[in-house]
Amino acid sequence: MSSHRPVTVSAVPDLQTHLKALDDAGLLYRVDRPINKDTELHPLVRWQYRGGIPEDARKAFLFTKVTDSLGRDYGIPVVVGALAASQDVYAIGIGVPLEDIGAHWNRALAAPVEPEEIAHAPCQEVVITGDGLVGAGRGLDGLPVPISTPGFDSAPYITAGMVVTRDPDTGVQNLGTYRAGLKASNRLAVRMATREGGAGGYLHWEKYRALGEPMPCAIVVGCPPAVAYTGPQKIRRDVDELGIAGGLAGAPIPVVSCKTVDLRVPAQSEIVIEGMIDTRYLEPEAPFGESHGHIALEDFNMVLDVTAITHKANPIFCSIISQVTPSESSVIKRVAYEPMFLAHIRDHLGVKAIRGVRMHEPLTNLRRVIFLRMAPGAPRTEIWRALYGAASLRADCGKYVIAVNEDIEPDNADAVFWSLAYRADPGRDVEVLRHRDAGHGPKGAGGGRPEESTLLIDATLKRATAPLALPKREYMERAREIWDELGLPELAPESPWHGYSLGDWNDEWDRLAERATEGRYLENGRRSAQRRRAGIKPNTHVRSVEGWDEFDD
Ligand SMILES: Cc1cc2nc3c(=O)[nH]c(=O)nc-3n(C[C@H](O)[C@H](O)[C@H](O)COP(=O)(O)O)c2cc1C
Repeated sequence: MSSHRPVTVSAVPDLQTHLKALDDAGLLYRVDRPINKDTELHPLVRWQYRGGIPEDARKAFLFTKVTDSLGRDYGIPVVVGALAASQDVYAIGIGVPLEDIGAHWNRALAAPVEPEEIAHAPCQEVVITGDGLVGAGRGLDGLPVPISTPGFDSAPYITAGMVVTRDPDTGVQNLGTYRAGLKASNRLAVRMATREGGAGGYLHWEKYRALGEPMPCAIVVGCPPAVAYTGPQKIRRDVDELGIAGGLAGAPIPVVSCKTVDLRVPAQSEIVIEGMIDTRYLEPEAPFGESHGHIALEDFNMVLDVTAITHKANPIFCSIISQVTPSESSVIKRVAYEPMFLAHIRDHLGVKAIRGVRMHEPLTNLRRVIFLRMAPGAPRTEIWRALYGAASLRADCGKYVIAVNEDIEPDNADAVFWSLAYRADPGRDVEVLRHRDAGHGPKGAGGGRPEESTLLIDATLKRATAPLALPKREYMERAREIWDELGLPELAPESPWHGYSLGDWNDEWDRLAERATEGRYLENGRRSAQRRRAGIKPNTHVRSVEGWDEFDD
């Protein structure tokens, strides 16, 4: 069955309005040549993440002529990277500048805005049920669902699906982004993580299983970005993500009741798949390229029998590129996870010295390695409170937590090793905590054990230290002007690129250096001649002989 309904307009931007905004901002590539969704589409976008392109040059990709390996054409375009190709893309979707995203999230979490039910929804302009779901080119088989990791994945996978379920006890809905692989034109396999801190939908499934009933489910593909951003976030179990999305959007999310299941979905969604999840039988699911960067091998997972597919008259299919990080999947999490950790340590634990939290992204996927940037002079006990706090906030985050000073750029591995090399003493600044959940990782490779440990490292400066031995900033800046004037190869400065004090430096040494740069080193020589001493061993520090305060400046 198929039917058309009138469109309702809302204040909340939908996916297509967002794509227009990305295009206006120069953040959308439009690909009008035919692209095979089974073999070419995701690999093409993957080059954006494995081809040395910096994050601020990444864009979303809109494919208008999608084909498949059977030579079929799909009338529905596919977009990848629309939600979080980069943090700039995310900022446009959430509607606030990058630096305000953390505060914006915290406000939305504190003050949800309840959704509003509407009667005629764009996502139900076309309604497909019954025989319309069965057979080649129908139902799910008529949707341009791409293969994410050609050569490894066992099927096309819905990766930007917001999976909606309802707690049968409380009636509160949960929305989570979980992958769903195509099994038939009317059957999907859905993977909900059962680990501690895993999928909220799985907890609902357990309840329906105990009741001996199948679980109603809706998978929304291409919802308003404000809703999409709540999907990957860990939000309290008793809170409906649609309310948080309303808080993010600053207006109620228009919702509509599904056609065949008792669930409410965002009315401006592009496509909605309705169905019932079996609570008795599970079916082998995967292989599929996972966000931890390895292929998930076959597991038994849930089966969804489709009861309806509804969509806009002209929908766009949204797909998230995940697998090895960085990816859209890691950016969409990172932008909200980092402020969440910062708010926990700073506001809940009250650690005043915390300045920032950085989750390591390339290859490691955020959860395993976390850096805490601490203010200078932070009491050691406060650094350790921050370390313990970061390690315990979430069951699956914080296998390695490292505290560094603000001058250490955590994305720069060289700077991190520099900090470990000179600012940490493994005998005193390292703790191993036992009994951590193994978290999200490949099965079998040592990460498959139920329990792992946490390594905490205080790699901050413990005492005043001699300056970094590079020319002072003003000399490097002047030299850069000359560099440019000479037309030498373009520079990409790496931090640190100038010297600065690390606490152990004084005015007298500053004056020595000034005289030297002014060409007056001879005067320095005259002065040091007057400070000669006999009877001491070479390499003896001057201040220990002349009796200055240790850190006199
Ligand atoms: C692209 C993407 C794919 C994801 N796939 C899954 C998945 O297949 N299963 C799962 O349990 N979590 C998956 N996640 C992580 C969940 O979305 C995340 O844990 C979220 O907090 C779940 O919401 P919930 O707490 O309401 O269940 C995925 C996240 C992203 C961004």
